[in-house]
Amino acid sequence: MSGPLLEVQGLAKHFPVRQGAFGRLSGHVRAVDGVDFHLNAGETLAIVGESGCGKSTVGRLVLRLLEPTGGSVRFEGQDLLALPDSQMRAQRRRMQIIFQDPYASLNPRMTVGAMLSEPLMLHRLAPSDAARRTRVGELLELVGLRPEHARRYPHEFSGGQRQRLAIARALAVEPQLIVADEPVSALDVSIQAQVINLMRSLQARFGLAYVFISHDLAVVKHIADRIAVMYLGKIVETAATDELFRNPRHPYTRALLSAVPLPDPTVVRERALLEGDIPSAMNPPPGCRFHTRCRFARESCRVDAPLLADDGTGHSTACPWWPELPPAPSLVEDRADDQDRIRLARLQAAFVTSQMEAT
Ligand SMILES: Nc1ncnc2c1ncn2[C@@H]1O[C@H](COP(=O)(O)OP(=O)(O)O)[C@@H](O)[C@H]1O
Ligand code: SF4
Ligand SMILES: [Mg+2]
Repeated sequence: MSGPLLEVQGLAKHFPVRQGAFGRLSGHVRAVDGVDFHLNAGETLAIVGESGCGKSTVGRLVLRLLEPTGGSVRFEGQDLLALPDSQMRAQRRRMQIIFQDPYASLNPRMTVGAMLSEPLMLHRLAPSDAARRTRVGELLELVGLRPEHARRYPHEFSGGQRQRLAIARALAVEPQLIVADEPVSALDVSIQAQVINLMRSLQARFGLAYVFISHDLAVVKHIADRIAVMYLGKIVETAATDELFRNPRHPYTRALLSAVPLPDPTVVRERALLEGDIPSAMNPPPGCRFHTRCRFARESCRVDAPLLADDGTGHSTACPWWPELPPAPSLVEDRADDQDRIRLARLQAAFVTSQMEAT
């Protein structure tokens, strides 16, 4: 296959907002408002940003679990939005989603074996009962559980194990793409590391591509090849993961990075913490959407909406002023001290000690 596995252009979702007894249309929530990105086979793109910026909506639009207001989603070159329902059903097998709360997405009355058998039957992936049982056992082992776990119910597992079950169910249909929406956000740090390690090893084994959605930059550093930073329905910066951590350009990205907690209490850092709330997506600020919270905002930022401009290296920034901004001194200092050690020591430690055994 030439070209990216997934190509998203101009993607938008405006949710109608209705009020009053007659449901009068009072406006639209511009949850996603013109988003472009691509994802290659076997690659991980993280989408990060504060709660409410539109990450989950992007994830659902990509899988066409929601119908977009505008834009296109191409999977292996095929425009998903133009596909009739019958063909979309076939494509669904290639794209799976896992959520933050696996318990909510696992049927509590079904044994794990029945739950994993369901997609196998639906897509005719195991011709006999015996083949199905074998495959269910394999799937459980792939995610670090044991074949005999097939007889248990979801409530008999820990949070980390349930996320493993959700991953096993996604893998059952042999997808090429998994959208993982905050898959480790509800888990303890050490368990987060184990689940991320599992996702990485499955990716290496099966060539999976991930859209990994998270509000936590520290987490995505360990899994993403590239990161897209979202603010109020738009992408404001994209870059390779190392490049984004080394040279954050957009004032919003800088603020997010400076909000990543430092595990070492002896390190003092100037914090460009975000002030004020994220504005309403019903009424986003004109010009640059970030101008109401940007400490570098100037007059023109209230009027001119910046484009996401690529510098030719794959690093794109939606702020025309970034070359003129002062360097982020705190981040530069951290870099000299090895960001991983300082910023992410706690998470790193968890990775080193984490094992592939069931959590
Ligand atoms: N079904 C819906 N109807 C109306 N508004 C919605 C709906 N789903 C999400 N939104 C709004 O869209 C915006 C983006 O939501 P979401 O994609 O869930 O953000 P995130 O995942 O980044 O927290 C929010 O303002 C949210 O309230
Ligand atoms: S365009 Fe202006 S308001 Fe927006 S991020 Fe850049 S400096 Fe800040
Ligand atoms: Mg979300």
